[in-house]
Amino acid sequence: MAKRHDAIVDMYEKLPVPFGLVRFGVAPDHPEVKNCQDRFTEVASSPRFNFIGNFDMGKVGLLELRKQYDAILFAYGASKDRELSVPGEHLQGVYSARAFVGWYNGLPEYASLSPDLQSGDTAVIIGQGNVALDIARILLSGVERLKTTDIAANALDTLSSSKVTKVHVIGRRGPLQASFTIKELRELMQLLDIQFKPVPLHLLPGLEQKLPRAQKRISDLLRNHSNHSSNDNRLSKSMNLDFLQSPISFNADSDAGNKLASITLSHNRYKNGNDLFDASAGVESTNENDTLKTSLAFRSIGYKSEPLPGMQDLGIEFDLRKGTLPNVAGRVVNGGNAIPGLYCAGWVKRGPTGVIATTMEDAFSTAEIIVSDWAGKASGKPGWEALRSRFPHATDWDDWLKIDAAEREMGRAKGKEREKCSSVDQMLNILR
Ligand SMILES: Cc1cc2nc3c(=O)[nH]c(=O)nc-3n(C[C@H](O)[C@H](O)[C@H](O)COP(=O)(O)OP(=O)(O)OC[C@H]3O[C@@H](n4cnc5c(N)ncnc54)[C@H](O)[C@@H]3O)c2cc1C
Ligand SMILES: NC(=O)c1ccc[n+]([C@@H]2O[C@H](COP(=O)([O-])OP(=O)(O)OC[C@H]3O[C@@H](n4cnc5c(N)ncnc54)[C@H](OP(=O)(O)O)[C@@H]3O)[C@@H](O)[C@H]2O)c1
Repeated sequence: MAKRHDAIVDMYEKLPVPFGLVRFGVAPDHPEVKNCQDRFTEVASSPRFNFIGNFDMGKVGLLELRKQYDAILFAYGASKDRELSVPGEHLQGVYSARAFVGWYNGLPEYASLSPDLQSGDTAVIIGQGNVALDIARILLSGVERLKTTDIAANALDTLSSSKVTKVHVIGRRGPLQASFTIKELRELMQLLDIQFKPVPLHLLPGLEQKLPRAQKRISDLLRNHSNHSSNDNRLSKSMNLDFLQSPISFNADSDAGNKLASITLSHNRYKNGNDLFDASAGVESTNENDTLKTSLAFRSIGYKSEPLPGMQDLGIEFDLRKGTLPNVAGRVVNGGNAIPGLYCAGWVKRGPTGVIATTMEDAFSTAEIIVSDWAGKASGKPGWEALRSRFPHATDWDDWLKIDAAEREMGRAKGKEREKCSSVDQMLNILR
């Protein structure tokens, strides 16, 4: 970076298109969330900002990049998923939430996932975060609700012939420990033609119980719903929040088969002395098990960041346990000492939790640190100019605008907001 007032910012992106999880994670029926793209577009219009897409940061060599820039900010998110480490979790019919979400959002990596929504009527989602609720909502919504969104065309086709009518979202702890938020819970409860099954009232505190605001609202909503819901058999679909259960194995249809047929779940109880209304309460297995028949399951227990190749050459010891870059307020550190010129923001800084607003706040605070470190310092480092000729297939912001226009046009023809390109080749073909 040169003097603060004429700093040049280059942003590298693996795919030819920008927006990360806002494009490939946020559910298609949440278009209002995608408004943050406008803010990004505003930033991108600055002549001092370069978008460089179709560029895998791991491939350039971080040592090389370090030579060309005064500061490097790592904000590459979490592109792996956490695993349960129980037998059978890779059977056919068990999908990671990341893959399924990527599939319905048109992420090229998962365009050919082809999840089997036809073999059975029951889907089981392990984990009770907002991603789990997104998946439940997409499975139960019905295509009428989704068909004008930017959902991928092949996902809409598969969902239109889906046989799934029952969804179980399974948490290892109780309702007061679940990590979903009230807005997403309410949205699921309000879906048409779906019976949202009552929650056992003994797991919910009385109205008089003092709780943090977010937990209180969730608890009141679930209690109110559970007190008043009736078994309406005219409703063709059902949604179950199942608490205090953990999968101990995913089972195949025969000894030799590799297709999911059932899940064995252990029942859990609160650890001795733990308050069941405390968000941090822990559980243990009771050793009582149940088997749930299903041919379709999703593992939705969180995403995971990994180190980039060459990080060690820069003195970075990635924290594999937490899945984050060791940092103090966004400065990457080794043994407590800041490594000059290296910064981080977003999920790779904090871990894979937080909504867009928290991620933005966090990015602003790292940006302030970078500015304070570099204020008044001049530099003649060339940045992208030194690398450009070696990466003829890299895309820039104008290329994105062309892909954007083509996607909107393809969408218009189908009455949709946009039809996303399903492969990197399709994106690059638009530019040829
Ligand atoms: C399924 C899902 C749904 C969500 N829905 C909502 C919602 O409705 N509302 C809300 O507020 N929040 C939502 N969130 C949370 C929100 O998406 C995150 O808080 C936010 O996107 C995290 O930002 P990030 O920059 O850390 O990571 P990301 O958004 O993942 O951005 C990381 C970027 O780095 C790029 N990258 C990765 N590896 C490389 C590499 N090697 N070289 C170059 N580039 C690379 C990626 O392609 C990506 O563009 C959702 C999250 C998920 C997982
Ligand atoms: N609409 C939205 O605003 C929206 C939509 C999607 C995502 N997001 C955000 O994106 C972030 C990531 O969401 P997420 O759902 O992937 O993660 P998350 O919020 O961290 O939820 C993960 C869930 O998996 C459970 N889990 C973890 N390990 C487990 C194990 N070994 N066995 C069983 N269960 C396990 C957790 O339970 P424990 O608590 O017991 O560990 C928790 O219920 C969150 O901050 C979320 O709010 C927001």
